[in-house]
Amino acid sequence: MFRIVLLLCAVSAFGQTKYPGVGKPAAADRVKAADKTVMADGRGLPAGKGNVETGRGLYKTHCAECHNEAGEGRDKQWPALVGGTGTLATKAAKKTVGSYWPYATTVWDTIARSMPYNNPGTLKADEVYAITAFVLHLNGIVPAGQELDEKSLPQVKMPNRDGFIPTVHPDVKAKR
Ligand code: HEC
Repeated sequence: MFRIVLLLCAVSAFGQTKYPGVGKPAAADRVKAADKTVMADGRGLPAGKGNVETGRGLYKTHCAECHNEAGEGRDKQWPALVGGTGTLATKAAKKTVGSYWPYATTVWDTIARSMPYNNPGTLKADEVYAITAFVLHLNGIVPAGQELDEKSLPQVKMPNRDGFIPTVHPDVKAKR
């Protein structure tokens, strides 16, 4: 038993220092593409713009295959982006962009960073503004024809904006 434990320690120590044959340094352009931080108040958003109508077409091409034509989701695997308003306080809470997400800027960031799921990080800033506008429109949050840019997106008031309560962490000195 003792020998097995020693052997396991040796293997993990080796693994931590060398990773033989695994991975390669990330290329500078990939690091740059991932090195973005978009804050809830819109800081970090790139310049750009897009409207609901442009977003409708882009959504059909890049998103509908999984999230369905009107954002209702498909099967259990592909989450709904629409619906669930009024369900959060029930046992059948349905959390979607429309019912749950407090900031439109986070919708932008999520789409830019991690969607399409099978090809993330490939959409241009203008395309992400347009698709975000369309997803917000599907949720009835912005009207048809709405254009969004880096100034107007943070002004969009999400239905659940006030549904979160800041927790108290006395050891964290962050400003709220
Ligand atoms: C290949 C399937 C696929 C495609 C295409 C795709 N998504 Fe997704 N999307 C997913 C999956 C799976 C998740 C859940 C990921 C997770 O929970 O980590 C998700 C999650 C999301 C979420 C977060 C939902 C939530 O409330 O947690 C948003 C917003 C989103 N997708 C938007 C988009 C948009 C916009 C597009 C098109 C640009 C897109 N997705 C394309 C599969 C896909």
